[in-house]
Amino acid sequence: MSEPDVQLVPMGLAHLAGVLELGHRVFDVSAMPYTSWSLSSVAVHLDAQPDACWVAEADGQVAGFALGSLSYDDQTDWGYLEWLAVAPEHRGRGLARTLLEESCAALFAAGATRVITDVEQANTASAQLMQRCGFHDSVTVTLFVRHAPGSARQARARGRHTDPAKARLHAAARRTQGG
Ligand SMILES: CC(C)(COP(=O)(O)OP(=O)(O)OC[C@H]1O[C@@H](n2cnc3c(N)ncnc32)[C@H](O)[C@@H]1OP(=O)(O)O)[C@@H](O)C(=O)NCCC(=O)NCCS
Repeated sequence: MSEPDVQLVPMGLAHLAGVLELGHRVFDVSAMPYTSWSLSSVAVHLDAQPDACWVAEADGQVAGFALGSLSYDDQTDWGYLEWLAVAPEHRGRGLARTLLEESCAALFAAGATRVITDVEQANTASAQLMQRCGFHDSVTVTLFVRHAPGSARQARARGRHTDPAKARLHAAARRTQGG
């Protein structure tokens, strides 16, 4: 089967659902740094800095996106490339690099003196991409987490109630062990 044609286009309102869906497919939204992925996060980018929001389209579907904004931690002349993703079936063809370049060009044109992006430690693909595109390591921040007392037990108990299929499996396993 031949590869579909992929086009880079500025993101528009019609892309909202596709971008949101692709993000949910490729980001683990239960873990940092992806927990803030949401429709409002996408919409805020499109609203504030539409020229820094780009989409790759393949057969009318969203195959990738880059969402940038101007300002990072109150630094109004720092661009922030916060969200970047390419669908697994379209990876390894330079799409992320092209999306990133478009977004950065827009941020520089809008007055950014630098562009910041953050990469989770285990995400070697993204780290390599950034290095290849002229980003260099800066500050490393480690999130230390302290859980509330008893929270692991509570989470296990919640899990039991919220997933009926798992609850049935566990009950069956307990019956087997018991008998
Ligand atoms: C990271 C990601 C965006 C790369 O997309 P992609 O379209 O496959 O990347 P490209 O083809 O443009 O690759 C550009 C460069 O990135 C690097 N790269 C990309 N994928 C890589 C991988 N799996 N391992 C190592 N390096 C990789 C390479 O250096 C590559 O350059 P080269 O081909 O000249 O060696 C994609 O894997 C993805 O969507 N991952 C999940 C979401 C994510 O982590 N987003 C970034 C944080 S928000």
